[in-house]
Amino acid sequence: MAVVIAIANQKGGVGKTTTAIHLADGLARRGSATLLVDLDAQGNCSSIFLDPVDREASVHELFRAQKPARDLAHKTRNPQLQILPSVIELAEIETLLAGNVDGFFRLREGLSWPDGPEYVVMDCPPNLGLLTLNALVAANYCILPILASRFSLDGIRTMLDTIETVRHRFHQDLQVLGALMTMYNDRTAISGAVLEPTQDLVRVFDTRISRSVQVEEAHLMRQTLFEYSPGGKITAEYEALIQEVLHGIEKG
Ligand SMILES: Nc1ncnc2c1ncn2[C@@H]1O[C@H](COP(=O)(O)OP(=O)(O)OP(=O)(O)O)[C@@H](O)[C@H]1O
Ligand SMILES: [Mg+2]
Repeated sequence: MAVVIAIANQKGGVGKTTTAIHLADGLARRGSATLLVDLDAQGNCSSIFLDPVDREASVHELFRAQKPARDLAHKTRNPQLQILPSVIELAEIETLLAGNVDGFFRLREGLSWPDGPEYVVMDCPPNLGLLTLNALVAANYCILPILASRFSLDGIRTMLDTIETVRHRFHQDLQVLGALMTMYNDRTAISGAVLEPTQDLVRVFDTRISRSVQVEEAHLMRQTLFEYSPGGKITAEYEALIQEVLHGIEKG
């Protein structure tokens, strides 16, 4: 059985996609077969690894026609990394599946894959709609990227409530691995001011991801930081995050 990790926060622009890309690429670079699932109709994850695909070759078909992930996954330039890409039409899935009794379970079912990847990393959209709920129902673990800003705490509370509901209603073994401070600048007062109250709510990763122009540069080149800046400071931070994630999973 794969270890399934959802990267989620209903707030937009907090670093979900960047975290998902680097966690997946990094795990694959360590030699583990990994599947990156793009659940955002914006398709930002997909665009780093693939040219646009047709709807029929995307995660859309998993939701619409219940096709298994193994038939929809695409190879990437990283031999251990596969991706289940998104398309813009994914936005209509929310309405298509609304009121459908098994609507929350499509992803969990689609990901059941004997001899499949060791890790599945899912990039969630910035809302608590059906796609994010599908990810939480399918996941064993959840990582919550957050920005050091005044409004992050409310967002985290809502997210933790949602996770609690999913645990309660659907399954008990969904664990929050931690909140990840992204675009962090330890010279600003707000960063420290948000860190402490967040730690009261949820475990916060020791690793913090700094703000760095290299992230946008790498995305622009359609590369990951492991490709664009192998020796960079921010690349090392993602390496450290992966260590921490693996340690957290081991501890269970
Ligand atoms: N550490 C960083 N330093 C500087 N810029 C960053 C960093 N991480 C992410 N960014 C940039 O911030 C923006 C938002 O990041 P990202 O797309 O990962 O967030 P998101 O939570 O997935 O957003 P959305 O909610 O829209 O899906 C992007 O333009 C990204 O390139
Ligand atoms: Mg995103």
